[in-house]
Amino acid sequence: MTPAAPTPPGELDHRLPRTVRPSRYRLELEPDLATATFRGREAVAIEVAEPVDAVVLNAVELTIDEAWLEGPTGDRLDATVELDDDAGRATLRLGATARPGDWTLHVGFAGILNDKLHGFYRSTFTGADGAEHVLATTQFEATDARRAFPCWDEPDLKAVFEVTLVVREGLTALSNARVVADEPTGDGRRRVRFADTMPMSTYLVAFVVGPLELTAAVDVDGVPLRVAHVPGKEHLTAFALDTAAFCLRFFADYYGIPYPGDKVDLVAIPDFAFGAMENLGCITFREALLLVDPAQATQAELQLVADVVAHELAHMWFGDLVTMRWWNGIWLNEAFATFMETLAVDAFRPQWRRWVTFGLERSTALDVDALESTRPVEYPVHSPADADGMFDVLTYQKGAAVLRMLEQYLGADRFRDGIRHYLRTHQHGNTDTTDLWVAIEAATGEPVRRIMDSWIFQGGYPLVSASVAAGPELRLHQQRFRYDGVDDPTSWSVPLLVRVTEPAGDTSAARIERTLLESGPASIPLPDSDRAVVVVNAGGHGFLRVRYAPELLDRLTRSLSILSPIERYGLVDDTWASVLSGAAPASSFVELVSRFGEETELAVWQSIHSGLGLLDRLLEGGARGALQQRVRALAGPALERLSWEPAEGEDELTRELRGVLIRMLGVLGNDDAVQEEANAVQRASEREGSFVDANVAAAAVVVTAFTGAAEEYERFVERARSAATPQEELRYLYALAEFDRPELMQRTLEASLDWVRTQSAPLLLARCLRNRDHGASAWTFVRQHWAEISDRFPPGMIVRVAEGVRALTRPEVAADVEAFFAEHPLPRSAKTLAQHLERLRVNVALRQRDAAPLAADLT
Ligand code: BES
Ligand code: ZN
Repeated sequence: MTPAAPTPPGELDHRLPRTVRPSRYRLELEPDLATATFRGREAVAIEVAEPVDAVVLNAVELTIDEAWLEGPTGDRLDATVELDDDAGRATLRLGATARPGDWTLHVGFAGILNDKLHGFYRSTFTGADGAEHVLATTQFEATDARRAFPCWDEPDLKAVFEVTLVVREGLTALSNARVVADEPTGDGRRRVRFADTMPMSTYLVAFVVGPLELTAAVDVDGVPLRVAHVPGKEHLTAFALDTAAFCLRFFADYYGIPYPGDKVDLVAIPDFAFGAMENLGCITFREALLLVDPAQATQAELQLVADVVAHELAHMWFGDLVTMRWWNGIWLNEAFATFMETLAVDAFRPQWRRWVTFGLERSTALDVDALESTRPVEYPVHSPADADGMFDVLTYQKGAAVLRMLEQYLGADRFRDGIRHYLRTHQHGNTDTTDLWVAIEAATGEPVRRIMDSWIFQGGYPLVSASVAAGPELRLHQQRFRYDGVDDPTSWSVPLLVRVTEPAGDTSAARIERTLLESGPASIPLPDSDRAVVVVNAGGHGFLRVRYAPELLDRLTRSLSILSPIERYGLVDDTWASVLSGAAPASSFVELVSRFGEETELAVWQSIHSGLGLLDRLLEGGARGALQQRVRALAGPALERLSWEPAEGEDELTRELRGVLIRMLGVLGNDDAVQEEANAVQRASEREGSFVDANVAAAAVVVTAFTGAAEEYERFVERARSAATPQEELRYLYALAEFDRPELMQRTLEASLDWVRTQSAPLLLARCLRNRDHGASAWTFVRQHWAEISDRFPPGMIVRVAEGVRALTRPEVAADVEAFFAEHPLPRSAKTLAQHLERLRVNVALRQRDAAPLAADLT
């Protein structure tokens, strides 16, 4: 193993002394679901490295009744306990000095099952009997294991866990490993003991106790795989089981290492702060990200389940078996899992063209990373709050995109060899980012560390400009891309693939050039023809944007058919970005997309849809009508070609495209006929036994909400509260933000602080803020209820509300938003909040710059 990097200053204040290290926890917990409390006992085998008078470890909101050290010969050192909840620590002062060597720490403690969806917490659901049922579950990452048991809650202090749960008869008890003993305690409860885990970090420990059902185990090459769910949902488990079985095999093969645990349970939890959590062998999920009926789900909903299952299973090796040394390394954990998720799902369902749709995720990162308030993917992390701020699109989507760029540049097999080498070298250990680059360098001989450092340790990304110079040759140079247009000397080592296609008679000859573009300009010889078509960023894997000189752009837009889908996507997305940065007028985007009437690729349409959607917000009256007219002219014929009914054997992306076109026409295009049809389809889809394609049904829900009144609203609330699947529930719930009437918007806002689960309410509020005509009144509500929002929602989710503010582009509202957050900062999410606010300023600038010229242009 490589030696640990020196600890950065500041980090030390938040790290435990290394004088005492745990090697094994024997942990027994007795949750009481009725009183929402738990008691626990632990015996932790520790190694004392030098004489100590006190043992310092992590604990938060626990009471400790007793603590003592037991020596190897049975000698006992009693401890008095000092708790410091602010520091998240307990200090156990020993009656005498403990000499170096092996000891066992005994602690008896108690705590509450909280309702903040972190630590050891309570989740509830209503059963078929109409009664409320309770379960207890855990969410420990990043630093909340300390809320459930006193521990050394740092990722490099790995230990073996032997967990025992004492639970009421009739309840299911799950933890990271298999059950090895299960016996009655004689008082109506059972003591369930689980096998030892491999040595692992505290943030991966999990326990779940409640009235859950389990599917029969599927044997995946010796690993039993199950889904756990609340009663009555077994019919929604098959897809996750199929995906997981595929992924377990795919990863064991890709990594070249067998699954590191002894079983896999995928557990659907009714209340969950994040999307899912990679606890070894006991992976927890939001219900909508695990339980799905493929026949009733949209392509997007189904793909999301596959993605999340793949992502968490990828972590079983990358994250659980090999773990970051400290939280600054979380990006690698999450970026890599996101990369592997896409790779695995692409293999699982090749027809989903997962690397093409990944383009949209790459774009979310390119969007944030064009801001002044962006950050490097990796930066020093001192406190747990710093670590919380790392779970964002830069970690996940930029991280995954730059790994994909590297993989494509090196070649998939060589990249995989590097990953295998890394995992083999570091299994059961902890690593820094550099360990990965060193391993891939060893496997490939390429300057991986130098290339990647430029992407990981500095924020932003390049705009690569391409022009033709005498020779003829293609001239390339890079400059940082920023929305604010400020000149910035940052440069990157840009792995670039350039394709030059030379039309020759009926066929055309293409040549791919692989170059590493550095800070200075580069050139590539071109054929002596003014018809040669150049695609910079061929294959679309680069984390960059491209700007073509007019003559190159002209050749490109006249030969759209020789571009691959992701390259067409890139052309649309890059054009949109240059509008946002002010380098091109908004009308240039409208003009470009008007050439895409024949387009068939989902991702390209999605990009067109989102750009036009923002432009629609800038316009009123006749100009808005003119844009609606353009939308109908563009998307109308496309929907007509597809019709409202899927053709026999039609592929899944086309089905989803139909849904996108319906929404685009029904909402953005304000198309009467489509609105009418959508209303009819929506009603039909509610009728027992009717069959409407889910993508069409889901689009019809949105369009119906947009045009609907109180009657539709009532029906939608009812559906949201009694839906047959988690996906349907969310479709109707989120549609409550799309109604175009002030009094209905008001009801939705109030619901978000009432009957809506706290796991969904922040996302619902963000949607309300994005409502074109009632976003401003939603903002007034959010502002007035901020104290309640802060108090009620899971701490990590409050910032999700602010995701919606970018849409509040009227200057007076935007100014109010800025002023409000200056007074109400979010310390856990300061960076992300700053990005939402800057992104809002980008939209305000767009409005001020482009609204009038665009209106003039359209009318
Ligand atoms: N490790 C994370 C869960 C997590 C996120 C814990 C933030 C603590 C803070 C998990 O692997 C993850 O990435 N979950 C994602 C879903 C995933 C498919 C992108 C999430 O929760 O959003
Ligand atoms: Zn993850």
